[in-house]
Amino acid sequence: MRVRKAVLPAAGFGTRFLPATKAIPKEMMPLVDRPIIQYAVEEASASGIDQIIIVIATGRSAIEDHFDSNASLERWLEDRGDIEMLRTIRRISEFGTVAFVHQREQLGLGHAVLMAKDLVGDEPFAVLLSDDVMLNPNGAPVTRQLIDAHRAHRGSVIAVQRVEPEEVSRYGIVEPLHEEGRLVEIRDLVEKPAVGEAPSDLAVLGRYVLTPKIFDVLEQTPSGAGGEIQLTDAIRELTHEQPVFGYQFEGVRHDAGTRIGWLKANVAVGLDSEVADEFRAYIRGLDLRD
Ligand code: G1P
Repeated sequence: MRVRKAVLPAAGFGTRFLPATKAIPKEMMPLVDRPIIQYAVEEASASGIDQIIIVIATGRSAIEDHFDSNASLERWLEDRGDIEMLRTIRRISEFGTVAFVHQREQLGLGHAVLMAKDLVGDEPFAVLLSDDVMLNPNGAPVTRQLIDAHRAHRGSVIAVQRVEPEEVSRYGIVEPLHEEGRLVEIRDLVEKPAVGEAPSDLAVLGRYVLTPKIFDVLEQTPSGAGGEIQLTDAIRELTHEQPVFGYQFEGVRHDAGTRIGWLKANVAVGLDSEVADEFRAYIRGLDLRD
């Protein structure tokens, strides 16, 4: 079955970015000229997905407003003859269907995904954590790579990449059963293991293609690491019932959920944007000696 739908959890508090995130969700922080979440929506759209489901916290409307049309802004741009910006603005509300579901209590990533159960229904779907910004300018979007792997091998597929051994406690870590090329058959997973206790250095990064069976499992998943209902714990259960693969994707991932990662993501996006030449010249001219 074609993967048509994507779930984008965006209901966290964004505590690492306070006070910037006091009134706006972290997904609305910009990378150059677009909010972080728009990169994930564009990636999903470029991967063939036409139904986006964004899980937001109750009482926070900035993301909804962003994907809605804005008639007075459009009229103003039209009156000024700024047709290019008008097109850019209109394109944002034309990414296929964008639906919103509210997560009333922040009970964890697994719980956020569960909120989308009724809108997803009985079909495989993608999950994109938008603060993992995935750039692969010369190849297929990372979500597309996972969808292709899902098509070829069935089962669920999650994006994995090797991380430094001292970083394992920031991620879900997989225990591989068997590796062949980019594909890793997964025996087990653990959410945020202590350094020295991780089964490997292969970390789960924020892209998944999951079978709908995950919803049944999530309904039974107790809270885990950090007292939260973890998606990793549910996927771990899923491995007992269906095959789950890791896919060592092609592309660069920036963790825009941390200050340094957000800065690096801005540099990467800036160096591939309309202002790239001027930005490159500026960086070259910086005196970076201590
Ligand atoms: C989440 C997942 C974790 C994954 C990470 C990737 O953690 O729970 O398994 O490795 O995203 O960014 P979070 O960053 O929300 O703590």
